[in-house]
Amino acid sequence: SNFSSFLNFSGRLSINQQQARYSSNFASRSEFVAGSNVTKFQDFMNERQFQARSSVLIQVGSEHSFPELFNYCLKFGEILVCKHYQTKNGHFILLQFSNESYANELLDSSSSNESSLSTTVRSPYLWFKTGKKPKIINSAQYGKGVLSSKFGNSVITEDLLNSEIRNAISIEDQMGIIVSKTQLSDLSIRLRYLAAHQIEKTFKEIIPSCKAYPFGSSVNGFGKMGCDLDMILKIDNKQADTSSRLVFQVKEHFNNERTQKQRQMEAIGNILQIFLPGVENVRRILQARVPIIKYHHDFLNLEVDLSMNDLSGLHMSELFYSFGNIDIRVRAIIFTIRRWAQIIGLTNPSPGRWITNFSLSSLVIHFLQQLDNPLLPPINNFKNYEDSREDKEIKQFELSKTQFLTNNNIKLEELLLQFFEYYSSFDFSNRAISMVDGNTVNKPDHSAMYIINPFDKTHNVSKNVSFEECERFKIEVRNAAWILETELENNVNLTKNGNWGLLNLFKTNNIVKPNVFYKPRMVDVSELFCKNVK
Ligand code: GTP
Ligand code: MG
Repeated sequence: SNFSSFLNFSGRLSINQQQARYSSNFASRSEFVAGSNVTKFQDFMNERQFQARSSVLIQVGSEHSFPELFNYCLKFGEILVCKHYQTKNGHFILLQFSNESYANELLDSSSSNESSLSTTVRSPYLWFKTGKKPKIINSAQYGKGVLSSKFGNSVITEDLLNSEIRNAISIEDQMGIIVSKTQLSDLSIRLRYLAAHQIEKTFKEIIPSCKAYPFGSSVNGFGKMGCDLDMILKIDNKQADTSSRLVFQVKEHFNNERTQKQRQMEAIGNILQIFLPGVENVRRILQARVPIIKYHHDFLNLEVDLSMNDLSGLHMSELFYSFGNIDIRVRAIIFTIRRWAQIIGLTNPSPGRWITNFSLSSLVIHFLQQLDNPLLPPINNFKNYEDSREDKEIKQFELSKTQFLTNNNIKLEELLLQFFEYYSSFDFSNRAISMVDGNTVNKPDHSAMYIINPFDKTHNVSKNVSFEECERFKIEVRNAAWILETELENNVNLTKNGNWGLLNLFKTNNIVKPNVFYKPRMVDVSELFCKNVK
């Protein structure tokens, strides 16, 4: 491991204790989580999709219904995983069978709600009717069924997280805690794939080749509990097989591809709104550069952004996933920077002139690539990388250990400091960032901040960032560098309330933040990758 040496701020714990503490937060986690091991992206996706196809989500009165439910469902087949969670809409139990045919048999045998006027639509979402005589079930009968993750779908409170961070033994440890306490849980990832499965299953009936993929932070290893689900619905698959002389008739389409896409999305939005159980509050944002449908999934307690056909977001996710797997420090620094930016108000949940999480991660990746002794390779080192928007297939960005192996053993807190210093003196007015080459190039236009989109080199990922926001970013990184340097020098730097290390960094300071006081000017939405419209 790169973490053989530790800075010990408190002097309370022995190295062994630190090691144990550290690994419990960071290195070894029992659950399979995106980015925490070297599973290839495609294998990760396949496994998660299989889990979704073999799963059902059942609403129950309370978790006490579990033994009866488990016993009832066992007759369809072997059950591998049972997870419970609660939302304001009730209690839910996710059951995963060992085979998708068992889940299908369960769905085949399920009935309609006689007292409801609604049309019954087949979906993996059910509820468990109270039996005539609630049977007392002896726990021996459901021996293997263990209900877990009671709180596996909720976001840790700020107070609890801060106290965990306060009790850490080093800044490095604090960064590990941010990852382990805020990253997506196994249950949360399962629910995201289940959401995609529901959409895919629905549209497969008329478009058998259609596919729905979760992407963005839900799958790239940088997601935190409570983040939105980004999803691509791909319905424009063309059959590659040209040997047949019989060709399907198709609907005459609109001349304009964009209009056609908007009309299709309108129709998809209607189906979601009118037919799909759990889907609520459907909003269509069809004028944006990337048209999307937003909805809230009440059973899964998820906010979903659905876009269509363009797989470049999925390729981006695979690249980020691969970067996160190259070195354990990558996710730690990205989680830390995202949290820092969120707390000091550099990022904002609604879209606008401020930097996005996506751009922030890109800045971190570029920083790690340009080090004298790089922690990450340039994207053009990946096999299969090409600058194209061709998206027939999911690509496999393979980077074997022999191709890139860093011998940079720099400590996380030092790396964090270098990040802030690097951007304190970055020449945003003349330089553009290229993750493809791992360096900077002359800025092609007058945007305040320019990060070249690896899948469309003429597009600037941070085009939305205004000059004021870029200026603010520069001020904040300088400020952060100064604070962190002081923290590192002081060793123990407890403030009145016991804050030290990152907690002193995660503080809103006295610098005036223009956007807090001014209503943002109207932005041209066509210029925005309109993801986070609330
Ligand atoms: P959070 O949702 O904030 O946790 O992060 P995220 O990475 O999921 O970002 P977001 O939901 O804003 O966007 C989802 C995905 O869309 C990203 O991971 C990118 O792949 C892609 N994306 C977002 N913004 C842009 C952009 O400005 N340009 C391009 N080309 N792709 C973008
Ligand atoms: Mg997202």
